[in-house]
Amino acid sequence: MQYSDKVMDHFLHPRNVGEIEDASGVGEVGNAKCGDIMKIFLDVEDDIIKDVKFQTFGCGSAIASSSMATELIKGKSIHEALALTNKAVAEALDGLPPVKMHCSVLAEQAIKAALVDYAQKNNIVIPELEGFEPDHDHDHDVEDED
Ligand code: FES
Repeated sequence: MQYSDKVMDHFLHPRNVGEIEDASGVGEVGNAKCGDIMKIFLDVEDDIIKDVKFQTFGCGSAIASSSMATELIKGKSIHEALALTNKAVAEALDGLPPVKMHCSVLAEQAIKAALVDYAQKNNIVIPELEGFEPDHDHDHDVEDED
């Protein structure tokens, strides 16, 4: 399997690993099939993601995806973070092998789950997240394989 230099770089030197104490929002998602788990911590102030950290118990592509996703949303608004798709994460990594696309889905979902947590803690409604359910049991292998 061929991995891009960027995937290797973010796998070997992941950015933003760790946790945030008293995080504004925490999201954890898992993929039932491979058993990998990703947890994202957000520090949000005035609608801006001031800081973000992750802990990923998973494959190299999941670690690289978490690392890249945190880099992509750091300093951005909630709205911008919500617009981040797993495809954008994979593209920023110069691509992932098709069988590894589901690893990037975890990153998108973990961020959304953390924002759901943030919204609940602050009693606010984020319209884009209406109906979003962190999807523990669903198999994402079929989507985004092109
Ligand atoms: Fe499941 Fe990578 S193999 S997240």
